[in-house]
Amino acid sequence: MLGKDSVKKTLLVSILLCLVCSVLVSGSAVLLKPIQQMNKELDMKTNILAAGGLLEVGISVDELFKKVRPVVVDLLTGEIVTDIDVNKFDQYVSQKDPRFTYVIPRSSDLAGIKIRSKYSKVYLVLDDYGISEIILPVHGKGLWSTMYGFMALDKDTTTVKGFSFYSHGETPGLGGEVDNSSWKKLWQGKKLYDDNWVSSLNVIKGVVDKSNEKAVYQVDGLSGATLTSNGVSNIISYWSSHDGFAKFLEKVRSGGVQL
Ligand SMILES: Cc1cc2nc3c(=O)[nH]c(=O)nc-3n(C[C@H](O)[C@H](O)[C@H](O)COP(=O)(O)O)c2cc1C
Repeated sequence: MLGKDSVKKTLLVSILLCLVCSVLVSGSAVLLKPIQQMNKELDMKTNILAAGGLLEVGISVDELFKKVRPVVVDLLTGEIVTDIDVNKFDQYVSQKDPRFTYVIPRSSDLAGIKIRSKYSKVYLVLDDYGISEIILPVHGKGLWSTMYGFMALDKDTTTVKGFSFYSHGETPGLGGEVDNSSWKKLWQGKKLYDDNWVSSLNVIKGVVDKSNEKAVYQVDGLSGATLTSNGVSNIISYWSSHDGFAKFLEKVRSGGVQL
């Protein structure tokens, strides 16, 4: 018999306790992983629907998401890629995979991200007539952080239906106001491209003069956060360029996207 206060017994109890705890912790991590994954997916679906102005009280996110068709797009050609499983594709993970990495030429890297995946997910909202909205994932540098968001466009590929960031590390009350719902509303109805399909939308310093003919391409700056605001403009410029989604959007306009 080991004595109650013997060194051996103390060690034995500690080891057993460690074993039991590690089994409990790793067991719960394994058990909770699918739930965490499900919540992550649900959260992302909610962000996508919110950007597209598609959330409806009383209807579940999964139900609403049935009209959204995610596709993978080759940004170089603007073609939809069919040999990649869209449900397994994560463009942010894949950008670090040498098969998918695209190093952005310095002169084109307006969003300051250096690399991106060759492919991007795009969310097409469908109605009885075909594509009604196109929701584009965008990201790029703010002042302190890389900001991730979604821009929703009408099927005309230029009218903004909504724009919001779901992840960033900007200062609350300053750059963090990219989350402010009143500011997000200002984007609705703005135009991404001008009549010659030149990317024109940007955040200005101060308040937009509604009588200005350029007002439709301008959004009020975030006060005290010009650097984050500039980041937002740069993100839009990059992702609307030919290095971003321009080729795909051209295809949508010309009716070249077959589903
Ligand atoms: C602690 C701290 C946090 C700041 N965070 C931000 C920020 O998140 N985004 C931003 O654009 N400016 C931020 N600024 C302010 C910038 O340094 C800069 O002054 C501001 O962008 C200029 O904007 P304004 O011309 O609208 O005043 C921060 C400043 C301080 C001192």
